[in-house]
Amino acid sequence: MIKVAVMGHGVVGSGVVEVLSQHVESIAKRAKEEISIKYILDIRDFPDSPFADRFTKNFEDIVNDDEVKVVAEVMGGVDPAYDFTKRCLLKGKSVVTSNKELVATKGAELLEIARENNANYLFEASVGGGIPIIRPISQCLAANDVIEIAGILNGTTNFILTKMIRENMSFSDALSMAQKLGYAEKDPTADVEGHDACRKICILASLAYGKHVYPQYVHASGISNIALEDVAYAASWGGVIKLIGQVKKLDDGTLDITVEPMLIEKNSQLANVDDVFNGILVRGDSTGDVVFYGKGAGKLPTASAVVADIIDCVKHLKARKYLYWTDGDGSIVKPYEQTVYPIYIRVGSTLDKQQVFDKVTSLFRNARSIVRTNAPENEFAFVTDDMTVSEQMNALAALENDGIKVLSKIRISDL
Ligand code: HSE
Repeated sequence: MIKVAVMGHGVVGSGVVEVLSQHVESIAKRAKEEISIKYILDIRDFPDSPFADRFTKNFEDIVNDDEVKVVAEVMGGVDPAYDFTKRCLLKGKSVVTSNKELVATKGAELLEIARENNANYLFEASVGGGIPIIRPISQCLAANDVIEIAGILNGTTNFILTKMIRENMSFSDALSMAQKLGYAEKDPTADVEGHDACRKICILASLAYGKHVYPQYVHASGISNIALEDVAYAASWGGVIKLIGQVKKLDDGTLDITVEPMLIEKNSQLANVDDVFNGILVRGDSTGDVVFYGKGAGKLPTASAVVADIIDCVKHLKARKYLYWTDGDGSIVKPYEQTVYPIYIRVGSTLDKQQVFDKVTSLFRNARSIVRTNAPENEFAFVTDDMTVSEQMNALAALENDGIKVLSKIRISDL
């Protein structure tokens, strides 16, 4: 029998305990060992839990118990999860986690400590919740050069955008609904401003390209400035707006990696990934496009991925899973200002339409206007051909100088 500990008894942690205790026999068959929870770490009391006798508030109980071979860290955040994970790995215990913030900021170091201590550090649940994506990239697609990964990696923002697109609901109403349904946190910043999706695309990029890509080097913007007007223009252009995390390997070896709202065509595989679902497209040189779709968050889907990692660790107690990347710095990331893509822009101006159009066509490459029904007289929207971000910024500044107010600017994706 293998003893494990679960650190954190929130949504995911309680799900891990539930899955482990409700599937004892089938898990034992798959792991070839019975798995038993020896400790559950949480600062809160759970006197009514059927596992009340396993709770501890003291991490030392876990790290100093040689019987505990595998630890699930499902606490979230960097502190104290980083310290706890490091100390468990240094003791040769394998650690599995759903903690995307920790993997995205400390992954290279923790993977190295795991390697040095002949332990495993697995994090299938950190991206895409219950969707298998880490193992497929590191194992099943290992024969491929990954050309590109692009995905809807955040369920909360996808829910909000879906409400805006399908029900014409404003951003703030859709956010309130997401909060009521328990998808969005009381402080929704990490989701709506793209930080959560950024951590996830950094993890996928690090895995695919073998060097740690830190979130601080990656341009991330969210959906809080998306208006219903933009949703309507996107529809008349022939697509939808989605928050996309994307990484592409460029010919010069750098990565075009960003998180931002993008206009994507209706017939793209990601255009119909709606509500809280996630969809991740991996473009391999041999496989072509492979798309992963499913529930990217939630108690049981995420717990299922954590427990699968626990089983994998139990099966590999004396061996190491090849899941590894080395440390990196910002040099692998193409500076955002140098990235190239076409854009959609919406402006407001009291100048007459022809004057605005003339100005726009002189500043932007191949600008074509798009229309929406019931647009006010002073609104004008257009799409362009490829431009570098710095060219875009200069042209936008020139518009503002001429009294033309830039209301929105959204990347047009080639997905
Ligand atoms: N807040 C995240 C989301 C949870 O909405 O996708 C899963 O990582």
